[in-house]
Amino acid sequence: MKKIALITGAKGGIGSAITSQLVEDGFRVIATHSVGKRECAQKWFEENNFTKDTVRLFELDVTDTNQCAERLVTLLQEEGTVDVVINNAGITKDGVFKKMTPQAWKDVIDTNLNSVFNVTQPLFAPMCEKGGGRVINISSVNGIKGQFGQTNYSAAKAGMIGFTKALAAEGARSGVTVNAVAPGYTMTPMVAQMKPEALEFIQSQIPMGRLAESEEIAKAVSFLVSDAGAYITGETLSVNGGLYMQ
Ligand code: CAA
Repeated sequence: MKKIALITGAKGGIGSAITSQLVEDGFRVIATHSVGKRECAQKWFEENNFTKDTVRLFELDVTDTNQCAERLVTLLQEEGTVDVVINNAGITKDGVFKKMTPQAWKDVIDTNLNSVFNVTQPLFAPMCEKGGGRVINISSVNGIKGQFGQTNYSAAKAGMIGFTKALAAEGARSGVTVNAVAPGYTMTPMVAQMKPEALEFIQSQIPMGRLAESEEIAKAVSFLVSDAGAYITGETLSVNGGLYMQ
């Protein structure tokens, strides 16, 4: 029987690489996409040559607490179990704090942080009852160091790290590990949206002199969900080319 991993924001840059990696690792992946994006998700599914056995598209509004509770309970009944949860969905609404609108604050906190509660809560108790599971939160270097123009994003990504440590303490006795991966600047559509001069400046500060490939982030996730990562919990694994060293 294949283990089942659910990933939010699956068709994004990093999400897509993680989905492909987990399929390669032998998982059945529940790939969530936002409401109304079925067609786009189907196109992504076909472009990546996934099969119905290995990837199931699953519509989920990660910002909607009630919908997540209902749909994830149904998913558990249909699939029998979820062994791994990867909270990957995220957006940016960058801007200096003086000009940040309440909506830009709320949208980023809802999608990047409140989603972690919404998605993890229905799946965590069943994992504990079963006596094992993995939760991976995709944070960011900017949640660790703080980034000019990203008070909303940095707050959400730092919140994910606090959540990781607290939930790791709660899951440990039941064999459920909870870890974060903190990517640096990665070649994704999200980073491609940045002002070229801002990105150029950041790139000049990366000791390795280049952005990360999404596959490099996916390998870190793959390790943490593998048997080799069984004794690691409450940790944040940075994959940032040396941009920030703690
Ligand atoms: N530190 C200090 N001052 C800075 C600064 C920095 N890092 N960056 C800009 N400033 C200064 C500028 O020099 C400028 O000063 P003056 O007014 O004296 O000239 C002032 O702040 C305003 O800067 P901008 O012209 O850049 O302001 P803007 O309103 O046009 O743009 C911004 C604001 C959109 C936030 C832009 O600064 C920016 O894109 N910053 C980078 C944000 C970033 O890193 N986003 C990452 C997105 S990808 C991601 O988040 C994935 C991940 O996890 C890594």
